[in-house]
Amino acid sequence: MPDYHSNPFNLPEYLAVKQKFVNDAMADIFSKHFADTRLFKAMQYSLMASGKRFRPILCLTAAEVVNEINPSVVSAACAIEMVHTYSLIHDDLPAMDDDDLRRGQPTCHIQFDEPTAILAGDALLTLAFEILSLPEISSVQKPQIMLQVVHILSKAIGCRGMIEGQMMDIRNEGIKIGFESLKQMHALKTGALIEASVHIGAILADASPDQIHHLSIYARNIGLAFQVTDDILNIEGDPMSMGKASGTDQTRLKSTFPGLMGVARSKEYAQELVNNALQALSFFDNKAIPLSALANYIIERKR
Ligand code: IPE
Ligand code: IPE
Ligand code: MG
Ligand code: MG
Repeated sequence: MPDYHSNPFNLPEYLAVKQKFVNDAMADIFSKHFADTRLFKAMQYSLMASGKRFRPILCLTAAEVVNEINPSVVSAACAIEMVHTYSLIHDDLPAMDDDDLRRGQPTCHIQFDEPTAILAGDALLTLAFEILSLPEISSVQKPQIMLQVVHILSKAIGCRGMIEGQMMDIRNEGIKIGFESLKQMHALKTGALIEASVHIGAILADASPDQIHHLSIYARNIGLAFQVTDDILNIEGDPMSMGKASGTDQTRLKSTFPGLMGVARSKEYAQELVNNALQALSFFDNKAIPLSALANYIIERKR
């Protein structure tokens, strides 16, 4: 466990080390499963592009806060990033947000074609669950814990989680919705997977019910703050740094926090959410410093 007490915490360095760790672990999984097919090339194209790896880093960091990283946490972190990447590939499709740029490169359906992008997304989602249920994993983690992980993840991303959030996002285009409905939509489309990332890291590191309780308050708040900031960046962000277009929410008449309450109030709201998250971390000792830094990063980020 690194010592975060002695020096001021260096978040850029922490992120760089963890990003490389996640990228290496995913490349390793990919090399074991890779086939020289168009489908795999499309999956690899989107997965290995320059994502921030925020969710897998959260999963690893949550595990480190309560205990230490074990191989099952690494598998789960990679599975989570595969699910997230699938959601981005589908989110960008012409039938959804119709975006051409993602992670600094043409979106999957532009680089390949629509059928390939749909199938690459489906295949990344499926591969995530294959990774979580590999028979070998039972030598490093109890099968009932892995089953719990599969349950948490599938619930977070399905019809009562991310997909319902995406459905609301599409249905709410051009409609003025209120604060509570917007909050619910964001909590589902983005918050649920972020919450699951923290929860999964914690349970794979054998967290206590008390630790899980405080981590889930943290995760709920940062999950929402993450999407509020994404909405703000869609207005104020630089497409070059973000690696995706800006101004698109307004063009597509999306329901967003800045649309409802303006950019300044949305920033205050994101800060309030981060403050709530930091408050929940006071239950932990200095080991939670990386989680505090990740919470602050959400609202300070430029991409
Ligand atoms: C973008 O997620 C989509 C949202 C849920 C807001 P990220 O901002 O984490 O995108 P990548 O993974 O870094 O590309
Ligand atoms: C993406 O939301 C949410 C999911 C992919 C589940 P957005 O559509 O707001 O995110 P960006 O701005 O395209 O990354
Ligand atoms: Mg969208
Ligand atoms: Mg989008």
